[in-house]
Amino acid sequence: MLILGIETSCDETALSLLRYHDQSNFEIITELVSSQVELHANYGGVVPELASRAHMQALPLMFEHLLKQSQVEASKISAVAVTQGPGLKGCLLMGLSFAQALSLALQIPFVAVNHLEGHLLSVRLKQPDFAFPYLALIVSGGHTEIIEVRGVGDYYLRCRTIDDAAGEAFDKSANLLGLDYPGGAKLAQMADSCDHSPFVLPKVMRETEGFSFSGLKTAIALLAREQQEAIRSPEIKAALAYAIQDSIVDALLFKLRKELESTEIKRVAISGGVSANQRLRKLAAGLPNCEVLFPDSRHCVDNASMIAYAGAVRFAAGERSFFGAPAVSRWPVETLSPA
Ligand code: KG4
Ligand code: ZN
Repeated sequence: MLILGIETSCDETALSLLRYHDQSNFEIITELVSSQVELHANYGGVVPELASRAHMQALPLMFEHLLKQSQVEASKISAVAVTQGPGLKGCLLMGLSFAQALSLALQIPFVAVNHLEGHLLSVRLKQPDFAFPYLALIVSGGHTEIIEVRGVGDYYLRCRTIDDAAGEAFDKSANLLGLDYPGGAKLAQMADSCDHSPFVLPKVMRETEGFSFSGLKTAIALLAREQQEAIRSPEIKAALAYAIQDSIVDALLFKLRKELESTEIKRVAISGGVSANQRLRKLAAGLPNCEVLFPDSRHCVDNASMIAYAGAVRFAAGERSFFGAPAVSRWPVETLSPA
């Protein structure tokens, strides 16, 4: 069956057409992403009202483009999977409204999907037979958590951030270094141009229960202020970026190692925007006695294929959503029920 995936939870409008047979047998036919980075760059962050309007404008055009590129008629689509939350309410509403309009027009069901479930399962887009259970580290702009994935919809929370997310830590640090929003990837690129740094940031999160980036954020802000003049030199800026990236990655892997010590599970999936980070990928590969899997980089960041896949599994299990399903800004993934 053909499943259309729609993702509009933040600043990416994404559509995907997935041919689905079963959980480990499927094929992405076409996937499209329209990023709003340029739209929000002047404001230093996502402006929800502008983001919603951009989704509204992009969705119908992208849908037509998707059909054309896939050489598929709309009538061949079996169901629509759409992100219901968590995310920005206005943005989610655009995707939900479009999905429901299509559902009515084409007389097909729609399935509302948890965005984080999409990230949790996104490694299966790369390796469809990646076996359950596995520990999933989600590191994105809004979330940092370690979830035990026992099956689709069977999630057990092991560790979550009590303040900022890892992506936010990257973006806010990048801002302190004068890099444009969203600076995470730019900071990482600068950091990767060095192989060491004279700057040392504290090792954090050794005592805290969950993830917490507030202490590190303060240390980075102080260091950036101290080096305000020196930062003008590209070499010093890169060395600072190196130290910042190193401390964030170190903290993520410290928590992951700790969780691995208390479980028999030896498979790890790392997903979400920050999982595109090369330093994290390199060091995570060295986790002892573990199989570590990252999604392809296009599926690390927000995308609709992961939503189409999660929705397809649920649709195949008989799930249907009701018209008027609300946009949900907060929706912990461990509250989901098994498919
Ligand atoms: O998953 P995502 O696309 O959106 C959310 O659901 O939040 O994640 C976006 C986050 C941003 O904070 C961005 O700066 C960060 O992922 N990011 C990176 C890299 N690429 C994207 N952070 C560190 N290194 C990267 N290479
Ligand atoms: Zn995301």
